[in-house]
Amino acid sequence: MSQKILVTGGAGYIGSHTSLLLLEAGFEVVVVDNLSNSSVESLRRVEKLTDQFIRFYKVDLTNFDALSDIFKEHQFDAVVHFAGLKAVGESSQIPLTYYEQNIYGTINLMKAMQKFNCKRIVFSSSATVYGDPASVPIKEDFPISATNPYGRTKLFIEEIMRDQAIADSDWQIVLLRYFNPVGAHKSGQIGEDPQGIPNNLMPFISQVAVGKREKLSVFGNDYPTPDGTGVRDYIHVVDLSDAHVKAIQKITGLLGVTTLNLGTGKGYSVLDMVKAFEKGSGKTIAYEIVDRRPGDIAECWADPALANKVLSWKATKGLDDMIDDTWRWQSQNPLGYDS
Ligand code: NAD
Ligand code: UD1
Repeated sequence: MSQKILVTGGAGYIGSHTSLLLLEAGFEVVVVDNLSNSSVESLRRVEKLTDQFIRFYKVDLTNFDALSDIFKEHQFDAVVHFAGLKAVGESSQIPLTYYEQNIYGTINLMKAMQKFNCKRIVFSSSATVYGDPASVPIKEDFPISATNPYGRTKLFIEEIMRDQAIADSDWQIVLLRYFNPVGAHKSGQIGEDPQGIPNNLMPFISQVAVGKREKLSVFGNDYPTPDGTGVRDYIHVVDLSDAHVKAIQKITGLLGVTTLNLGTGKGYSVLDMVKAFEKGSGKTIAYEIVDRRPGDIAECWADPALANKVLSWKATKGLDDMIDDTWRWQSQNPLGYDS
């Protein structure tokens, strides 16, 4: 019988791609999502692409009783936990909401898991937990810190999970620290659909390319990097999702907490991304240089060697795939899932 996986936040950007890959790998997928930043249309499209069914519950993780009802109905082999709020700027304006949704939501989820004896979880952490790293590439044993409430929720959740694994050695926990997820499924059917003005670089560039926004603001060109703009480790969302499938396949053999960077090990600057997008889309990306964004760092890229080894996984898609797939999704769905 196939293993049953609960995917929290499965209607979202990374969750929908991971649900698709889990189905293709032969897992049964149940999704819980409150749809605060997504639409069920993503899951309908995943069902069409895979010709498989996803059981969906519109439930908020802060609702313990509703969550327990799902666990009563299904015996899960493991949980992949994406659900949470992720806008850095907003987290400083409404920190209590971030702490409630991300931390309280996760505690509820883990309490339900404990109660129903499902103790395997893969969690979406972030490279943001490295704060301003002393050097690059970044390894998992670098010191961790946070500079905003969003980052603190990731840091605290990591610590909460470590404490739980110490208290009960049956828990098997994989903390995946994502670098910069971009791109979309090659079908052009699912992709990133940010509400309002995008905070992140790639969705902003692609909305300029499609004519939805006038120009990109490049946040600073006086960083100590080759062209002065910020350097990041962009990773294709399908590579990232594939790492989750591998983590689920390997989790029974991993004891306690395993912490892994998910990146490519290569850095690209903001202007590299603009040029590559212009080449891939055939569109001109208008931009202007503006002040640095508070809290940004010069360079952030991963040493992915540990994830390569532990998961027998490697990012295989390059910048051209990231751009082509983003552009296919954006141009076929200029208004995202409302198109
Ligand atoms: P997303 O917003 O597309 O997906 C998150 C999903 O969780 C959404 O569908 C949302 O409706 C749902 N959700 C939020 N709060 C919930 C709650 N209380 N109960 C139930 N559902 C809830 O974001 P994403 O880009 O797919 O990110 C997924 C995870 O990865 C997040 O935890 C995010 O912090 C983390 N992450 C993302 C990035 C990135 O750049 N996208 C980088 C590092 C880490
Ligand atoms: C940001 C968050 C990080 C979070 C990650 C994924 C901040 C400070 N950091 O990372 O905590 O985990 O998103 O959600 O918000 N840029 C522009 N113009 C833009 C947008 C971005 O020049 O309109 C530049 C940034 O200065 C940066 C690069 O593009 O150099 C990437 O930015 P972004 O996509 O927001 O990701 P991070 O800042 O790496």
